Amino acid sequence: MTSPVLSLSDVGLALAGNAGLTTILHGICLDVKPRETLALVGPSGSGKSSLLMLMGGLERATSGRVQALEHDLGKLDEDALARFRRAHMGIVFQSFHLIPTLTAHENVALPLELAGVTDAAQRATAELASVGLEHRAAHYPSQLSGGEQQRVALARALVPRPGILLADEPTGNLDSTTGAEVADLIFKLCEAHQTTLVLVTHDTDLAERCARIVQLKDGRIEAAG
Ligand SMILES: Nc1ncnc2c1ncn2[C@@H]1O[C@H](COP(=O)(O)OP(=O)(O)OP(=O)(O)O)[C@@H](O)[C@H]1O
Ligand SMILES: [Mg+2]
Repeated sequence: MTSPVLSLSDVGLALAGNAGLTTILHGICLDVKPRETLALVGPSGSGKSSLLMLMGGLERATSGRVQALEHDLGKLDEDALARFRRAHMGIVFQSFHLIPTLTAHENVALPLELAGVTDAAQRATAELASVGLEHRAAHYPSQLSGGEQQRVALARALVPRPGILLADEPTGNLDSTTGAEVADLIFKLCEAHQTTLVLVTHDTDLAERCARIVQLKDGRIEAAG
């Protein structure tokens, strides 16, 4: 049996705010297999983004254990966690989060440059081509459409060839046609690179393209396909 790529055991998340401690996730148990495609769905506020951030090591669980690629994320210090994320996790967000002062090409090359890769520029060029944007390489994010920005964000997330792609409502800011094109690219590239995909969405059609759907409600897993 192959080990899961992500393994969450009895994971809880409580955050302190000015209103006191809020418990956001309770007793989450979830394994994600290599190359699986998993959709996290549920009402607004149910904890989908929080769960994705825990999987990506952007937030630390306050109880339980989060393992990614057999590393216990709770045991990594901030530097080790940042290195682990850069090497193994690609993340795309609803609002793209590109760096506005860098061109499309520079945005895609950045994670490779941070990792000290010598042929970062060539690889970024090839990755932009893989999302159909070689002709937009010199454009800044403000000179790109929403769909183009998300394709650049996808290229940036995948260019280091992470084992896991986490996508938080990747089509949420796009019209349905553009969203479907971005979704097609996500599935195509994850399959081509054998990347495990966890995506959060409110779009039933998109969720149903995943091999498995997990439903959250009030910070708990309510139903898992
Ligand atoms: N930093 C924080 N401090 C306190 N509570 C928070 C914090 N961030 C999120 N929450 C709360 O945690 C709950 C889950 O939020 P989360 O963003 O994970 O929901 P979501 O399922 O992604 O919702 P949406 O579909 O609207 O994006 C919400 O009730 C939210 O108010
Ligand atoms: Mg969210």
